[in-house]
Amino acid sequence: MTLEQEKNPWEAQAARFDYAAKKLNLDDGIWKILRYPTREIIVHIPVLMDDGTIEVFTGYRVQHSMARGPAKGGIRYAPDVSLDEVRALASWMTWKCAVVNIPFGGAKGGVICDPKHMSQGELERMTRRYTAELIPFIGPEKDVPAPDMNTNEQTMAWIMDTYSMHVGHTSTAVVTGKPVNLGGSRGRKEATGRGISVCCDEALKYLGMTIEGCRVIVQGFGNVGSNAAHLLYKKGYTIIGITEYDGALINLNGIDVPALLEHRAKAGTINGFAKADAFDKDELITQPCEILIPAATENVITSQNAELLRCRILCEGANGPTTTVADDILAEKKVFVIPDILANAGGVTASYFEWVQDRMGYFWTEAEVNQRLDVIMSESFKDVMKYAESHAVDNRIAAYMLAIDRVAYTTKQRGMYA
Ligand SMILES: NC(=O)c1ccc[n+]([C@@H]2O[C@H](COP(=O)([O-])OP(=O)(O)OC[C@H]3O[C@@H](n4cnc5c(N)ncnc54)[C@H](O)[C@@H]3O)[C@@H](O)[C@H]2O)c1
Repeated sequence: MTLEQEKNPWEAQAARFDYAAKKLNLDDGIWKILRYPTREIIVHIPVLMDDGTIEVFTGYRVQHSMARGPAKGGIRYAPDVSLDEVRALASWMTWKCAVVNIPFGGAKGGVICDPKHMSQGELERMTRRYTAELIPFIGPEKDVPAPDMNTNEQTMAWIMDTYSMHVGHTSTAVVTGKPVNLGGSRGRKEATGRGISVCCDEALKYLGMTIEGCRVIVQGFGNVGSNAAHLLYKKGYTIIGITEYDGALINLNGIDVPALLEHRAKAGTINGFAKADAFDKDELITQPCEILIPAATENVITSQNAELLRCRILCEGANGPTTTVADDILAEKKVFVIPDILANAGGVTASYFEWVQDRMGYFWTEAEVNQRLDVIMSESFKDVMKYAESHAVDNRIAAYMLAIDRVAYTTKQRGMYA
């Protein structure tokens, strides 16, 4: 297999799905239903650019499954968005929502564009036209988008507004990840990092390890990585290394994460932080530690470097950071993997809370959000461990098996409408 094939997200998803489905002795018909998305929408969106010319952008929305509830998943803006990638991410969302047992299916969207070279006005017009094209397919009961790569609270506010104008009333529950004053949820920003910290706590308990002396390395200091590092720091973990795209820091006595956050806010980079040493960014993730958290992007642990990792636990903050070939290498090395569809599910769980609060019109305190999130994450961790033990499979396959079992059960119970 070439490195390019190894990194294809659809192949990676399909390989794990097939393996888990086989282990479950999944009925042939259900297998066929769940292997492919329910609906794939392609739109070509004309946008008036600032210089008066018209550009046409291609956008996708893939709805993988709606068996357990409305489809749920982010929208990304990037030059390399492809249908295969959006398909894979949509399926991952189905499995992720099922692992944490929330009543959503899976979807994902994307527009091929280069947002770094577009003005706010161009981005707003593109977002509104993309939303307008999707009006028949999205909605609080149908499909609920959220932010993903290069989209944010503002993008969600534009989608919410456009959708509301079309249906004739304000509909906050059509998207999640909104600003708090527009129906967003308290605690959403920190939720993915928070879920990761709960998984780390549970993994230590499961493996008979302690927080004291537990060294953590985090790759990526964005939303997920910085919140995970901060929460783990507050719980007493020793964050010894942090990498970013432009540099890395190490301090074997522990990095003062609040001080680093302050430094980054002022300097715009983690580099130059006085209380840690600079380090080679590619080598940092191979340094000895108890927990490694890839929280940057996909395909960072591959056949090329898996052998070199020296962590006891790999807690996947990013989506798809590990390839299937790397999975086999890590299994041989007995690395305890907390797979992405469990580890980073805190984000979609808080999105579910946002949707619930919008539909109730009653908003929870941050403490209530956090408390409910902690319960769901720790129960889901235990559910995955039960599957791993009873089926004698690794944690990733266990998470897939749990998810597929739940979606297959609902699909069978609803019956075929054909
Ligand atoms: N934000 C969420 O709630 C959420 C939920 C689930 C999964 N995820 C996944 O987590 C990952 C990170 O998401 P985010 O929201 O934190 O994004 P982000 O853009 O806020 O942060 C990513 C960070 O990683 C850094 N980075 C990029 N490439 C790197 C590299 N090769 N080495 C080191 N650092 C690198 C970037 O500079 C950035 O600071 C993505 O895979 C995303 O799909 C995010």
